[in-house]
Amino acid sequence: LIPIILSLLLGYGLGSIPFGLILTKATGGGDLRSIGSGNIGATNVLRTGKKWLAALTLLLDLMKGLAAVLIAARFFPGCEAIAAAGAFFGHLYPVWLRFEGGKGVATYAGIMFGLFWQGGVVYAVAWIGALILFRISSLSGLIAALCAPIAAYYFGRGDLVPLLIACSLIVFWKHRENIERLLSGNEPRVGSKSK
Ligand code: G3P
Repeated sequence: LIPIILSLLLGYGLGSIPFGLILTKATGGGDLRSIGSGNIGATNVLRTGKKWLAALTLLLDLMKGLAAVLIAARFFPGCEAIAAAGAFFGHLYPVWLRFEGGKGVATYAGIMFGLFWQGGVVYAVAWIGALILFRISSLSGLIAALCAPIAAYYFGRGDLVPLLIACSLIVFWKHRENIERLLSGNEPRVGSKSK
């Protein structure tokens, strides 16, 4: 039980670091939650006009998910999925922000790469491919999330399917306002300053 609890705490601790919020504030951009969509992710950092900061947010939000899984693999073998769940949950529901965190797309990529690299590749290809095709961040993230449990099933990681279905459902739930805008044709394309 101890390794399970420690993996969960490790994942949650890493996942709940709101890099977008911290970096934006540290570089004089103010509170990200009052900009654009109010989300703390890379897409919204991009709306501050700082491309490099958005790229860094994306990278760090991804790395924290990956790191949680890799550290668990090293110190608590067998608890990788628990650490992944902790990191994902930590990013979406950080205690430090009264449980109002991000939408999970970048951290999801990180845990996918950590859990099984083929899944990470599928996720990244779906995400980047959809982004090139549609140029809408939320839609690309949703498509990638949809592919994650399918990839696990396909690559013989049926053990991960329930966790990934749960993660994808939460990603969709967190994107409910984006989905409404997508359906009404009002979701902005990447680079646009509005929400
Ligand atoms: O990962 C977040 C992205 O999918 C949507 O972000 O700021 O456009 O709601 P945003």
